Amino acid sequence: MKSLMFDGRVVLVTGAGGGLGREYALAFGERGAAVIVNDLGGDIKGGGRSSAAADGVVEEIRARGGKALANYDSVEDGEKLIQAALDAFGRIDVVINNAGILRDRSFGRTSDLDWDLIHRVHLRGAFQVTRAAWEHMKKQKFGRIIMTSSAAGIYGNFGQANYSAAKLGLLGLANTLAIEGQKYNIHCNTIAPTAGSRLTQTVMPPDLVESLKAEYVAPLVLWLCHGDCQENGALFEVGAGWIGKLRWERSLGRTVRHNNHNMTPEAVRDAWNEICDFTDATKPANIQDSLQTLVEVLSRVDTEDRIKVNPTSAAGRMNPSDAVGRSLAEMSFTYTHMNTILYALGVGMSTKDPHHLKFLYEGHEDFSCLPTFGVIPAQSSMMGLSSVPGLDINLTRLLHGEQHLELFKPLPTSGTLTSKATVADVLDKGSGMIVLLEVHTYSGHELLCYNQFSVFIVGAGGFGGKRTSEKAVATVPPPNRPPDAVIVDQTSKDQAALYRLSGDWNPLHIDPSFAAMGGFKSPILHGLCSFGFAARHVLKQYADNDVSRFKSIKVRFVKPVYPGQSLQTEMWKEGNRIHIQCKVKETGGVVLSGAYVDLHAVTDSSVSRGPPETDELQSDLVFAEIRRRIRDVGAELVKKVNAVFGWEITKDGSTVRQWTIDLKSGGGDLHRGEYKGKTDVTFTVADDVFMDVVQGKIDPQKAFFSGKLKVRGNIMLSQKLEVILKDYAKL
Ligand code: NAI
Repeated sequence: MKSLMFDGRVVLVTGAGGGLGREYALAFGERGAAVIVNDLGGDIKGGGRSSAAADGVVEEIRARGGKALANYDSVEDGEKLIQAALDAFGRIDVVINNAGILRDRSFGRTSDLDWDLIHRVHLRGAFQVTRAAWEHMKKQKFGRIIMTSSAAGIYGNFGQANYSAAKLGLLGLANTLAIEGQKYNIHCNTIAPTAGSRLTQTVMPPDLVESLKAEYVAPLVLWLCHGDCQENGALFEVGAGWIGKLRWERSLGRTVRHNNHNMTPEAVRDAWNEICDFTDATKPANIQDSLQTLVEVLSRVDTEDRIKVNPTSAAGRMNPSDAVGRSLAEMSFTYTHMNTILYALGVGMSTKDPHHLKFLYEGHEDFSCLPTFGVIPAQSSMMGLSSVPGLDINLTRLLHGEQHLELFKPLPTSGTLTSKATVADVLDKGSGMIVLLEVHTYSGHELLCYNQFSVFIVGAGGFGGKRTSEKAVATVPPPNRPPDAVIVDQTSKDQAALYRLSGDWNPLHIDPSFAAMGGFKSPILHGLCSFGFAARHVLKQYADNDVSRFKSIKVRFVKPVYPGQSLQTEMWKEGNRIHIQCKVKETGGVVLSGAYVDLHAVTDSSVSRGPPETDELQSDLVFAEIRRRIRDVGAELVKKVNAVFGWEITKDGSTVRQWTIDLKSGGGDLHRGEYKGKTDVTFTVADDVFMDVVQGKIDPQKAFFSGKLKVRGNIMLSQKLEVILKDYAKL
């Protein structure tokens, strides 16, 4: 990798006569920049002045072959500093606002002068210098600015009220400059350094002053000021060779106001624990994120109003939790090899890689459908959520939070699939509602795959529902070691334009004005597209692109990706589980987190046998008993029942066993697996619920109405279940 150089750049470092500033000036000088070494040369409290400090550093730079000029003005005269740069070198590219003094006093003893001097040097000084440079940077469409804050500002520190206030003021200034400068390629970042210097030698033991060298801070400043660095508006703590980034975190909070009621301090008191609860906290990154919550609260409280005015409305009567167990209309999806290939192109496959050909060419002897295509037949169910009674979902507020996909067989490269979606759970997260939507996709009667969509409906929380669900497939953090493998793939500028042809037509991914309304600088890539990239990276790295090895995937969508950016998939192998984390390479921002792909072991042939084997199920016993009974009195049962029953027994949301009870012909039959013809009725039920029904703990009708027992086909035949299942309560 090439070294970071600053040839042709003009850098101003204020307060560069000693301490941290001197270190920055030397480092920039060494790497080719022309440096203005500014220092008033006063004492630590802001008294006196001298040219010696700045001159000394300029001599050092020149002695090492660098270009430098001394300036002795106070930062309060910002114009003069910038003029010096322009006069000597013709431009100004980088401004490091570093000059500083201390006037520590406990708050009660802080004089006006203590307050004002600190603010004049730190905050007003940085303002004056930066404003003088601003128009020049705008014109040349390049600028890098550093503000120097302090841990005292971020966290507070005894005796530094004046200093803390000014130092956090600098962060506020930087946050706004980052926004105003962005489109001119002017980036402004803030550091909170810790280093031994004359400012810290009064408060730190000498050993520490000695060890915390200023040279451990300078490399961060240089990187942030380089043209290659795209960081903007960020805050870093830095010292001792360690660098960390800070951000805001906000609890989900709680709305304590209700329609037509006064907001009271008592309501605030009573909701205090929730207001302060950081479980599932969000990390607002900009003022839009912040304001959006308020707009949503306003509109929600307003909606409550309308519900009240119209007490007969369905939404007014129903609680979102009542939607649990509801099924959406069955969806049919027909596709040909064209859709399979289009999807592969959509997730970045290319003929440039010869191994990709089997996903791109229908004439290939091993033509295959990518496993993550399994989300495609199921995805429209997310939009179908708006029609579920009780949920009352506004689709513009829907965020796709997490995705789990499990395959029971490799997907065919063409065919007609049916998908059945059910609301598995509804969670109340305060600021929003999470809907867990599960979708089973079949080819005929054969279950091909299971999807669990986790969608967040911003602003729809606060209905008193539960906060967590045992049904949710959890994300898992990667192991705490560097990744075992990394694959980087650049998305194309048209990646979203291509991916949407696989069926997600949301204009957010193509229409610039629509994206702008959503607060994005341009249309963003589909989360499920990055998901497809990551999954095929794992398939390539650990499964030799063999789709039959793919078992399941789980991801959390963290941040958007812009088409054209590079996706970097980091992978950790732990047995048959490959943990993944996906980042945008250019920014380092994580886009998929807590993610993993589970693979079948090389020798595991269960994929071709349908749903994976599971340990003994409780329901196995019951079916064994039914088999015995059919053997004894099968013919009699056939007469009474005359139907074929299919069973899908689930565990943790996935079908793990299929049974067919054929009581239509001969002496009846029970066998494991699906029926070759058409069943009259098929039941889907969890293993434990099945046992509760059999043992009479739950009435089958109740299980049906609560969504725990799903029935497809001739529902009237369920009544005959009793004939088959009775007398098993003793089991
Ligand atoms: P330092 O005292 O060695 O350097 C500050 C320099 O600023 C001095 O050379 C001083 O002459 C100059 N200066 C003061 N007023 C000026 C003015 N009006 N115009 C031009 N120059 C002026 O201190 P250090 O530690 O290197 O501090 C650098 C910056 O880092 C300061 O802003 C300080 O508040 C900040 N900081 C330092 C920490 C540390 O651990 N050293 C901790 C947190 C923040």
